[in-house]
Amino acid sequence: MKLRIATVSPLVSFEIKKMCVIGLGYVGLPTACMFAKAGLEVVGVDVDELIVDKVNRGEVPIVEPGLAELLRDMAGSGRLRAVTKTEPADAFFIAVPTPFQHDGTHAPDVSYIESAIRSIAKVVVTGNLVVLESTSPVGTTRHIIEVLRSIRPDLRMPGSDGTEGDIDFAYSPERVIPGSTTEEIVRNDRVIGGVSARSAERALALYKQFVTGKCHVTDDKTAEMVKLAENAYRDVNIAYANELSVLCDRFGIDVWELIELANRHPRVSILSPGPGVGGHCISVDPWFLVAGAPDIARLVRTVREVNDFKPHYVYRKVEEAMEVHPHAHLACLGLSYKPDIDDFRESPALEIALRLNAKWPGRVVVVDPNGAVLQEREERAGALTFLDYGAALQRCGVIVGLVPHRSFRERETPEGKVLLDIAGIWAKEAGAHAIIEPPVGAKLWTAA
Ligand SMILES: NC(=O)c1ccc[n+]([C@@H]2O[C@H](COP(=O)([O-])OP(=O)(O)OC[C@H]3O[C@@H](n4cnc5c(N)ncnc54)[C@H](O)[C@@H]3O)[C@@H](O)[C@H]2O)c1
Repeated sequence: MKLRIATVSPLVSFEIKKMCVIGLGYVGLPTACMFAKAGLEVVGVDVDELIVDKVNRGEVPIVEPGLAELLRDMAGSGRLRAVTKTEPADAFFIAVPTPFQHDGTHAPDVSYIESAIRSIAKVVVTGNLVVLESTSPVGTTRHIIEVLRSIRPDLRMPGSDGTEGDIDFAYSPERVIPGSTTEEIVRNDRVIGGVSARSAERALALYKQFVTGKCHVTDDKTAEMVKLAENAYRDVNIAYANELSVLCDRFGIDVWELIELANRHPRVSILSPGPGVGGHCISVDPWFLVAGAPDIARLVRTVREVNDFKPHYVYRKVEEAMEVHPHAHLACLGLSYKPDIDDFRESPALEIALRLNAKWPGRVVVVDPNGAVLQEREERAGALTFLDYGAALQRCGVIVGLVPHRSFRERETPEGKVLLDIAGIWAKEAGAHAIIEPPVGAKLWTAA
């Protein structure tokens, strides 16, 4: 539904000077910084006291290029501060996690959003604007309106027919890619879905304070679906590359050469395979479509299954290599869910490394440029042995390349090792699962 922004209604005169951004993670913190940079008074809210303390000291809790300087400037300017409890404000932005249930159902877990809206319910007043940025199942913006209605019957909520209420609500998905967030948050096109024309108008006016990309206005449900459609699209394309990689392995074909040749077709652009699909978005959000319409979301479900199968396949390939070299030590290169970031959520590389480590305790080492961050965040990482690249290569005879971090790709292809190139680190030399055998008699490892 296209919303027409033509009418100027009385609430528009409520100027937005102060806002609360709820959730200070990969999305919320850069968003809070950008609004502060635009001149607003911004209060960042997070349930994690450590994050709040760090932000107030001007220290970034995540690794993201350009964010450290931005946060230092904004915290120093006095326009951005962090707290653990939602405060009264003119506008509230919600950027909390939206995982799925890990009980096998993959049902969306909107409890973080519900908790955020309950915190807003304590302070919300007529004229406020609430914008949901968390990637959400279709209908979630309407759901939070109902949650707020049940807690605050004194306030009039907007109707499902577009009629205005005392509070305005909009949904606007974030499209940034970790590693380029501070640039993309400004220049990407943005979709803004209002539950009413006035809601959309107010959210649009706010975003325009820092967004240079085009802002496209629609209704809340369409905006929710746009984000899910985008991430499912990426999932479909990655699944195709991943399935090609296992097919090529079966047929004894170098998948990297295959993709390079196929992409010479003017209308073909196949992506690169990897150990699976991870992260907080692409491996999660398509399930929201499946959960919303399980009887008809057949392609989306199959694609999720294809990508979820890949780590098992990789594990089995490494197992085979270790069976051939029963005394070798094994190095896993890369643990994050994609290259050159410190995000390990839902990472297939991490799952593979943990499983291999459990199978061959004492014989597996891991290398990741952000290994220290992982150890700080993830208890399970305590079981892993972290080494730097050089030491890992010296110790291990079998090397499995799981994540193509730049620092790995810049190195020479290791010689005299068994290499399993899962993510194209040495793509010029090896096939996706081709095992490069070292010369006969080569010394595969040094004593630990
Ligand atoms: N990370 C990305 O690149 C990206 C991109 C697009 C969309 N998204 C979506 O944005 C949303 C947030 O993702 P993220 O990566 O920023 O998550 P995150 O885990 O990095 O940050 C979320 C923060 O919210 C806090 N939090 C949780 N519940 C809270 C509550 N009730 N009140 C206050 N704080 C609370 C957590 O402590 C955490 O610091 C998700 O829905 C995600 O799918 C993320």
